[in-house]
Amino acid sequence: MSDKATLTYKGKTYELPVVIGTENEIGIDISNLRSASGLITLDDSYSNTGSCLSAITYIDGEAGVLRYRGYPIEQLAERSTFVETAYLLIFGELPSAQALREFRNLLSTHEFIHEDMRHNFEGFPPNAHPMAILSAMINAMGCYQPALLQPEDDNNFADAAARLMSKVRTIAAAAYKKSIGQPMIYPRPELQYVPNFLHMMFSMPNRPYEPVREVVDALRQILILHADHEQNCSTSTVRMVGSSQANLYASVASGVCALWGPLHGGANQAVIQMLLQIQASGEPVETFIAKVKDKSSKIRLMGFGHRVYKNYDPRARIIKESCDKLLAKLGISDPLLDIALKLEEVALKDEYFVSRKLYPNVDFYSGIIMRAIGIPLPMFPVMFAIGRMPGWIAHWREQHLRPDARIHRPRQIYIGPAKRDYVPLDQRS
Ligand code: CMC
Repeated sequence: MSDKATLTYKGKTYELPVVIGTENEIGIDISNLRSASGLITLDDSYSNTGSCLSAITYIDGEAGVLRYRGYPIEQLAERSTFVETAYLLIFGELPSAQALREFRNLLSTHEFIHEDMRHNFEGFPPNAHPMAILSAMINAMGCYQPALLQPEDDNNFADAAARLMSKVRTIAAAAYKKSIGQPMIYPRPELQYVPNFLHMMFSMPNRPYEPVREVVDALRQILILHADHEQNCSTSTVRMVGSSQANLYASVASGVCALWGPLHGGANQAVIQMLLQIQASGEPVETFIAKVKDKSSKIRLMGFGHRVYKNYDPRARIIKESCDKLLAKLGISDPLLDIALKLEEVALKDEYFVSRKLYPNVDFYSGIIMRAIGIPLPMFPVMFAIGRMPGWIAHWREQHLRPDARIHRPRQIYIGPAKRDYVPLDQRS
């Protein structure tokens, strides 16, 4: 049965097709509304707009459900590896043993950055934010692979995707090493994705770093939990930029910029800054919550709230558990964790947060894990970006494979001055 919705305006009725998703999500297709009626829909900040059909990730925000290609996030976080999850997101299915081996080999083959690219790091001041470096370097990376910049050639896609996923880890670690004045550490092909990253971050030429299993596992989980989240701000940016047929590297570089903001991927850094401030001020958590509720303060409880989740973010639940486990294993007692736990307890009982359905999101506890691992604060959004890479790549490709793909170009309702004539400079008041 093909459902239709009807819209009546000034006595005329328009029929609009209805699209029903796998999980019975219903969308009214208004793509021909303007040509039929002259009307557009208005949805400031897109809270109510479906921008595409997508087969990658499913979220039920009311129930707190997240699935990649149908697989529940809880199962992937417990049993999968980051590379396997990346393959699933990018290519649509869990890989066979051989496909996984080939993908891993591709990642190893491409883990070095071009030697000349090392000089690009010298162009940044010592205190440059690593997200600025990451975005610029991803775009620069594309310049070394002109053959991979042809979006219409899908034969190069697996190679381009593997290069991006692999090198982004090398770039991130190199940016960190530069910021602390240590020599850049080359990747080691025999190491898996996460230990290889930790090696590049924390080894010295004369002192190899050997991570404990629990650290590797906590980071593996963080990357899987960040790997995709359907049409969020950065992914929509990647799709938007890609819709002009910009290449994969340029599209993903713009995704890094969108992710950087504190309302999105920069929130993990902002949460720790908030907790440090509360700690330094010595004020009770209740006083801070009172300030958050006072709208004139413009203070938000960072790591709380979500556009889609009106329930506990399933990623936050897993991260909180992993945080407890890791800190216990490492014998760390982090006073910031105590403050975070108290904030959550107070907020979840408070009418302000309850009535607005504000719960901890993925960023509330992830920073405490990263601190325990020794990852410095400015690198937190970079970790989010490394995790989100497979999602961005998958969305870029999904869009490019659509035979009917068109450039993304929203409309607007103009509210500026009506037509008026130019006034010469000497006649202006
Ligand atoms: N602290 C205090 N009040 C909040 C918060 C918060 N963290 N989040 C939302 N509200 C209030 C908001 O003031 C508004 O109140 P009112 O109805 O009285 O005007 C109401 O809740 C609805 O909020 P909104 O701003 O319309 O919600 P949104 O969907 O536009 O924003 C958000 C979502 C995530 C940007 C927002 O919740 C926020 O700023 N949270 C803090 C930053 C953060 O943790 N971001 C990470 C998001 S998860 C990772 C990712 O995918 O990026």
